[in-house]
Amino acid sequence: MRVSVSFLSSNNPPKDLKLLNDTDCEYIHVDVMDGKFVKNKTMPWREMKNIYKYTNKRLDVHLMCEDPSKYISKYAELNTEYITIHVELTGDINKYIREIKSYSIKAGLAIKPNTNVRDIIPYLPYINLILVMSVEPGEGGQEFIPSSEDKIKEIRKLLEEYCLDDIEINVDGGINDKTISMCRDADMVVSGSYIVKSENYQEKIDSLR
Ligand code: DX5
Ligand code: ZN
Repeated sequence: MRVSVSFLSSNNPPKDLKLLNDTDCEYIHVDVMDGKFVKNKTMPWREMKNIYKYTNKRLDVHLMCEDPSKYISKYAELNTEYITIHVELTGDINKYIREIKSYSIKAGLAIKPNTNVRDIIPYLPYINLILVMSVEPGEGGQEFIPSSEDKIKEIRKLLEEYCLDDIEINVDGGINDKTISMCRDADMVVSGSYIVKSENYQEKIDSLR
């Protein structure tokens, strides 16, 4: 299992990013919130752009933003492997996916807990990753929603049916050493507070493998 670590709940991002750089986590998950798509706001770009000073891990960027176009070109400047947008957006999702791919960055589509899996079907030919939200997006430290397990399985089945096995499944929210057992059909998980609120980051990452 690949592990992407979210530092959303970190009290000291520079320090935690340096500590995470010394672990074997595959990615740093960068949560970007605009105060519109979700009510919280994360640090502004002028601060976020300094992330390269603290880590050389590849970034997995999760845009919880109403207008992804504002952010895609910026985050494409960083050491970014994935940029994920939400299927619930009212704007032109195909256009955002094309924008992400124009930078040779992998495109992800996130789906909230109450959104029907069918909503992602039109975009399957164009995306590289599906991010299953196992909490309501907006804040760290929430509890994993158990029905996410069925949702992951449903998506896995759908990808098999459409012969799209190269699309990766990532799960985000409330992941810890207990809830990881409900994510076995995924390729990757995002874990935040379970890791950054602990004493030993590597030990917690190991418990998710
Ligand atoms: C929630 C964010 C998640 C979150 C994960 O809106 O998208 O990435 O920070 O953190 P934990 O593991 O604390 O739920
Ligand atoms: Zn996230």
